Amino acid sequence: MSNVVKNIITIDGPSASGKSSVSRELARKLGWSWVSTGAFYRVLGYIAHLKDIPEDNEEALIKALSEVDWEVRPQHIQTDVYIGKKLCPADEIYSVENGTRASNVSKFQKVRDAVLQAQRDAYKLPGLIAEGRDCGSVIFPNAPLKVFLSASESARSGRRAKEAGEEIKKVTEALKIRDKQDSSRKAAPLAVPKGAWELDSSNLSLEEVAQKIYDKAKSLYTI
Ligand code: DC
Repeated sequence: MSNVVKNIITIDGPSASGKSSVSRELARKLGWSWVSTGAFYRVLGYIAHLKDIPEDNEEALIKALSEVDWEVRPQHIQTDVYIGKKLCPADEIYSVENGTRASNVSKFQKVRDAVLQAQRDAYKLPGLIAEGRDCGSVIFPNAPLKVFLSASESARSGRRAKEAGEEIKKVTEALKIRDKQDSSRKAAPLAVPKGAWELDSSNLSLEEVAQKIYDKAKSLYTI
């Protein structure tokens, strides 16, 4: 059973700090799986959008989480999201707009409590890389390696604009709002988890970041 607790690396950080790209590359190197824990809030944000549920109506959001048939499925390339057994288009789930919706619905402690077990259930052998905002502090507080990935605002906006094929100005504005909201909310605000290794990726390629984490992981895990 000790394996179950140990083979987890958490990567937290602000929007577009490179968490998904680094997690994907690191998972490939290690032969582990990875999960974007933000996908749980993105699916709820998307459900709210489809069903016209106001993103500030906590009770209606909780009701939707329990009544709608949704699923988050970690894959090699990305974390897929299903509603009613149908795969949702990744470009809509991972759009800038849906990121804002996800941030809005993730403010509520009851929403966070409702998805916590499903986030933890993403763990499977031989190991898991979990990325998000509270992976090292709330979801997997016992992970032996916790990383907090940061990057300058311009590096982050540039990466996200390229990734999403969107205008840099629009992306920068959305990121600023999201960072502020995610860091200032009461429930599990974005913060450096205790004992986390802080890595600034502004001047590193994401492959370099993944290699650094891999090197450190080699000394901590049997891989
Ligand atoms: O990582 P992401 O961009 O997919 O996350 C979308 C939103 O979900 C993010 O702005 C805040 C929320 N989130 C969270 O509150 N906790 C997490 N562990 C992951 C994401």
